[in-house]
Amino acid sequence: MKNYNTLLFENKDGIGILKINRPDALNALNAEVLTELSEIFDEIATDGDVKAVILTGEGRAFVAGADIAAMSKLSVIDGRAFMIKGQAVMQKIETIEKPVIAAVNGFALGGGCELAMACDIRFASEKAKFGQPEVGLGIIPGFGGTQRLPRLVGKGMAKLLIFGAEIIGAEEAKSIGLVEKVFPPEDLLAEAEKFAALVVSKAPIAVSAAKAAINNGLNTDLPTGVNFEAEALVAPFGSADRIEGMTAFLEKRAAAFTSK
Ligand code: COA
Repeated sequence: MKNYNTLLFENKDGIGILKINRPDALNALNAEVLTELSEIFDEIATDGDVKAVILTGEGRAFVAGADIAAMSKLSVIDGRAFMIKGQAVMQKIETIEKPVIAAVNGFALGGGCELAMACDIRFASEKAKFGQPEVGLGIIPGFGGTQRLPRLVGKGMAKLLIFGAEIIGAEEAKSIGLVEKVFPPEDLLAEAEKFAALVVSKAPIAVSAAKAAINNGLNTDLPTGVNFEAEALVAPFGSADRIEGMTAFLEKRAAAFTSK
């Protein structure tokens, strides 16, 4: 991986620990962070040594939103371009063919909540806070929040959170389906790593096919979705990992998968 100004990256046994590193601004997403996130996910996509990613924040925030100081100076045209840039980053994370787990260590507000929602799974610290405060700033969520939040928590709950701009804690976020698991702050990263290690012990080609089937299916109706599933099954079914996985089961031994 090349060096980044606003990101820290460490490969721990095939699990990429990616930290947004602008703690003085609570990791707010400015154009530089968005560009660097886009670049590092391109690197991760083609790096066979990184099998899963844990995305977290340095310091007391996950990400406290898009950078308000930067946005306050933008024209309408530039503001729209900034949102499209952010949307593209979220889309890249959502569609990368590797599992991405958000380890939400603190504030996940606005663009931070949207970033967490673009990840496959959200683990949160008991101290994490979630919300979409944009209407209080005179705008709306612009990095996909109006679309991903209702898909995760339902239409009414998404409107409750977006219209009221209220900030909620981790347990409440879990109760509405915005977060999958909550841990004491000191255990968050270790638990995320433990789960990532479990996932990377499975057939990578199968995990990425499952990711694509779930994501593509949720964008469409059920009959089209099950067609996606059938198509997504073809690559793993034709893979060496399928032969290894099924043979290992029949031989009562652990499978050793080789796909990237
Ligand atoms: N954009 C730019 N800078 C931000 C930021 C953001 N979204 N969120 C926090 N910061 C900066 C603050 O301006 C402050 O910088 P300073 O030290 O130079 O003054 C620094 O991060 C620390 O934040 P501060 O507000 O002092 O911390 P706090 O603990 O009192 O409050 C929050 C924390 C998260 C409640 C508060 O920072 C906040 O409301 N942030 C904005 C959240 C938001 O509306 N996000 C959506 C944007 S679309």
